[in-house]
Amino acid sequence: MEESKAYVASQFLAKTSSGENINTYTLQGAGGVRMDVNNYGGKITRLFLPDRKGELKDCILGFNDVEGYEKVDAYLGSLIGRYGNRIAFGKFTLDGQTYELPLNNDPGGLQCCLHGGAKGWDAFAWKPIPFQEGDTVGVIFTFESPDGDQGFPGNVKVKVTYTLTPDNVWRIEYEAVTDKPTPINMTQHVYFNLHGEGEGTILDHDLTLFADKMTVVNKGLIPTGEIASVKGTPFDFTTPHKIGERIRVENEQLAFGKGYDHNFVLTEPSKDGAPVKAAELYEATSGRYLEVWTSEPGIQIYSGNYLGPHIVGKNGIPYQENSGVAMETQHYPDSPNRPEFPSTIVRPGETYRTVTEYRFGVK
Ligand code: BGC
Repeated sequence: MEESKAYVASQFLAKTSSGENINTYTLQGAGGVRMDVNNYGGKITRLFLPDRKGELKDCILGFNDVEGYEKVDAYLGSLIGRYGNRIAFGKFTLDGQTYELPLNNDPGGLQCCLHGGAKGWDAFAWKPIPFQEGDTVGVIFTFESPDGDQGFPGNVKVKVTYTLTPDNVWRIEYEAVTDKPTPINMTQHVYFNLHGEGEGTILDHDLTLFADKMTVVNKGLIPTGEIASVKGTPFDFTTPHKIGERIRVENEQLAFGKGYDHNFVLTEPSKDGAPVKAAELYEATSGRYLEVWTSEPGIQIYSGNYLGPHIVGKNGIPYQENSGVAMETQHYPDSPNRPEFPSTIVRPGETYRTVTEYRFGVK
């Protein structure tokens, strides 16, 4: 039998400032894609994608060391939990009890809890278990979040499995159980730039979204409750458009976000937990593209509006506005305060289970 081209290699990276060991796992896929991930918040730190000629380039934003991630709060390449995106005023009521969360973000002067709070699941060492099964490689990350973690109720045990398949699919499977009812809304915050990390912006990338509606936000980027059609607006990506084509047009929603920073509602979300196609991103000069498939009902498109030269990436290149785009699959923002939105509440005895795939290729 031919030996597989796939392998997993591990290397000690660093200790966190609180003394936990962080390892990097290199996942070499049989299809040619290679990625580095580590157990500091399950971060993906490098993603080598071939172009039309087969030339590999690292196409995500990130740092070489753990310190960079500890200092900069842009969530580069990170897992996000317990609740991805925003909860208005850091408050919600569940089964008659009100919970208060850290207020770590205040767009437009309105305070909220963003991405799980001041110390979300992105900022912890997780337990890593690398694996290889034939041509398929990956890492399982587990983590236990105690009752009261960042104000959220319930001891939550969480497991995230990263798999790199022989056909160049990065699959992310999320699972969690709790001993008290609690909201859970996990995502991955990787920023892509299909030219290569530090090589200009994503404004010339073609984006397609299989989403004909969006959750309209107020100046604090909190949903107002209105779910609006994207038709005839700069948010209509139901056919491919360059991200930069309409990003600076006069539009209140774009002004609130300083660009795209909005939750899109999938036209035909998954009914049975199997992932459906949510998005496509294509860069014409290299030919690189990716598809996002998910079991989640929404996707946040964040065009890197707050990236800038205060962030110097792993190759020493200062970032700029729109250096990368995050495509975060999720339930809608502020769902714990919006009973009309699909529920994010997980109860004891239930298992939170979602899956997202980033499928890479060239055309
Ligand atoms: C949010 C942005 C926020 C960014 C932080 C995104 O998921 O939607 O509003 O600024 O994360 O890096």
